[in-house]
Amino acid sequence: MIVDLILGLQWGDEGKGKIVDVLTKSYDIIARFQGGPNAGHTLKFDGNKHILHTIPSGIFHSDALNVIGNGVVIDPVIFKKEIENLKSYNIDFSSKLLLSKKAHLILPTHRLLDAASEKSKGKGKIGSTLKGIGPTYMDKTGRNGIRVGDISQPNWKEKYSTLSKKHLKMLNYFNSKIDFNLKALEDEFFKSLNSLKLCQIVDSEYFINDSLKKGKKVLAEGAQGSLLDIDFGTYPYVTSSNTTAAGACTGLGIAPNKINDVFGVFKAYVTRVGSGPFPTELNNKDGERLANIGKEFGSTTGRKRRCGWIDLVALKYAIEINGVTKLIMMKADVLSGFEKIYACVSYKTSDGKIINHFPYDSGINGIEPVYKELDGWMDEITEINNPNSLPISLKNYIAFIEEALETPIKIISLGPDRKQTIYVN
Ligand code: IMP
Repeated sequence: MIVDLILGLQWGDEGKGKIVDVLTKSYDIIARFQGGPNAGHTLKFDGNKHILHTIPSGIFHSDALNVIGNGVVIDPVIFKKEIENLKSYNIDFSSKLLLSKKAHLILPTHRLLDAASEKSKGKGKIGSTLKGIGPTYMDKTGRNGIRVGDISQPNWKEKYSTLSKKHLKMLNYFNSKIDFNLKALEDEFFKSLNSLKLCQIVDSEYFINDSLKKGKKVLAEGAQGSLLDIDFGTYPYVTSSNTTAAGACTGLGIAPNKINDVFGVFKAYVTRVGSGPFPTELNNKDGERLANIGKEFGSTTGRKRRCGWIDLVALKYAIEINGVTKLIMMKADVLSGFEKIYACVSYKTSDGKIINHFPYDSGINGIEPVYKELDGWMDEITEINNPNSLPISLKNYIAFIEEALETPIKIISLGPDRKQTIYVN
């Protein structure tokens, strides 16, 4: 029985979608377990680029089944658009896409609450994608949410109306007012609900466990990154779900002893979109260069991402929490052309102490990164398809990271296309 996990080890946008797409051929089922349309998983092949928000990244492979698990939150409006964007692929969603009855729905008023809450925070805002993620998970844990399975129940409209009325009252609490046309939002929402019925609505925990008993292989696809985890991330500048390995168990209904490999995906540098601490952030021309060469603009919101050098303290923390067995390094090509590159190996606290753990208030109390300087490489590497042909300085960078993190790097990505992927171990 095999379930492997793919998780982001930084603040999201590590390139998980591409890697899931590349690895899908070795699996029967690809399953999303948390998050929602705040995610933007980018896949590139045959000269085309696709951005998926809710649908798992295995959808382009004819042999794989794709499951949206109970831990995911779904906005039917965005889901409908995603399905429409895939029209030209003639995907038979009724056989290839399964949706958990227990996944919670994002209502239009959840999005309004998200917007009002962020606006009222002023400078202290989280930098949310404003997709209604936080308010939807609040209703889930508050036991007020509406689940996909509810929409076929006779009392569902009543449930909807009770909850949205409550949300409208809650909106009055916020000082910052937002403009909206509820009727238009609700019309669009109710029209979009039919798109959910294009896929199979199932008890996905049974489906996955039965498939495992039949010897099928499952790849669980994480969204966001470990440092955005609601428990272990840079709280409160986090998302509202468990993005770490344990989230795959609760978000799919699989037991921990079914998990085999945990693939940890990280960029050869670091990015963050939204607010919150970021110890290795570069507010200088190197940061600008990483953003421009790495095309670091959000695939969901278009926002410019903050950029910085790799942070090995944070990566070690993420590896520990997730039980990562294999590492996957993305966007190594973006570092080409830097004469020197830097890796954060520890932090210096405001009172001069050197620490090797990711602190409770990372960055807030004047944590300074301590860097190791390494030689960069000038070569263009995007066309390389053999690990032996990598520049020596990149080989040294890989060896240095593996040693520091005590975990092997298995795959290196040298560009957005499926083909720009090499296996190094
Ligand atoms: P929310 O999950 O949309 O409420 O956003 C909370 C925080 O997580 C914000 O800083 C977002 O920028 C960040 N975030 C949410 N989803 C993603 C993602 O898929 N990639 C990167 N950052 C994300």
